[in-house]
Amino acid sequence: MDTQRHAGMTVVVTGAGNGIGRATVLRMAAEGATVIGCDNNADALSQTHTLLNDSGLSAVLVSADVTHPADIERIVALAGPRIDILANVAGIMDHFVPLGDLDDATWFHVLDVNLTGVMRLSRAVLPLMQSHGGGSIVTVASVASVHAGCAGVSYVTSKHAVIGLVRHIAYFYGPENIRSNAVLPGAVNTAIGTTSTPRVAWAMERAAANLGAIPAAAEPDEIATLISWLGSSEASNINGAVVSADGGWDAA
Ligand SMILES: NC(=O)c1ccc[n+]([C@@H]2O[C@H](COP(=O)([O-])OP(=O)(O)OC[C@H]3O[C@@H](n4cnc5c(N)ncnc54)[C@H](O)[C@@H]3O)[C@@H](O)[C@H]2O)c1
Repeated sequence: MDTQRHAGMTVVVTGAGNGIGRATVLRMAAEGATVIGCDNNADALSQTHTLLNDSGLSAVLVSADVTHPADIERIVALAGPRIDILANVAGIMDHFVPLGDLDDATWFHVLDVNLTGVMRLSRAVLPLMQSHGGGSIVTVASVASVHAGCAGVSYVTSKHAVIGLVRHIAYFYGPENIRSNAVLPGAVNTAIGTTSTPRVAWAMERAAANLGAIPAAAEPDEIATLISWLGSSEASNINGAVVSADGGWDAA
């Protein structure tokens, strides 16, 4: 493997403060990219900063919220005039709340982060990629993009819907050399548990029947390595793909 495969590239990573996003920042930086990492958790970002320093790496880390249009503009302005790879990683769970118990605020917030945030940032980087002859967008979806029994209604809907967005970009902008792919992790050892504590007992029991088949949780870098590869020119003919990285969960 060419360990400097992203040399000269500018990469934007959301969710850079924890888990898969943090691992993606570290990996992209180690592979030669200029990385702009953003997260709405400033404390978490400072831990990413420490880990980068400890590894002799650097990245521009920005406190920004993907649900705020002004923050999207700020991220793109910081990264521009050229963005080669966008990794849409930021996401939240929904406490396994099923439809009958759903309040509007939970629904809109989860969709805002997991779907609308991805749409806004992807839309914002599009003209930069078009003007520089192409680019690659990698969006972290989930096994919940193809299975209902992994989360509540808001998360499952957001992760199903984001696949439509990923494929839309692939189909309509592929001719301009812009690739768009989705990564579907299964269980990963991250901080996402803060938004997954169950609120409705029967729904969690129902989900548990499916969750019982999950293989051992992966480490975040096992997902970051796929994000990095899909983002790179080594994946030049991969466009519109929905790639599982779930240890075989979906195969069960
Ligand atoms: N961990 C898993 O088991 C798992 C499984 C399938 C899919 N995923 C997906 O992987 C992605 C990354 O999750 P993770 O497991 O690394 O979780 P994580 O909680 O460890 O990291 C997510 C990061 O996103 C940030 N974030 C949340 N809302 C934000 C916002 N509005 N603006 C900017 N940043 C925001 C959080 O502060 C956090 O640092 C998510 O899209 C998640 O749905 C995770």
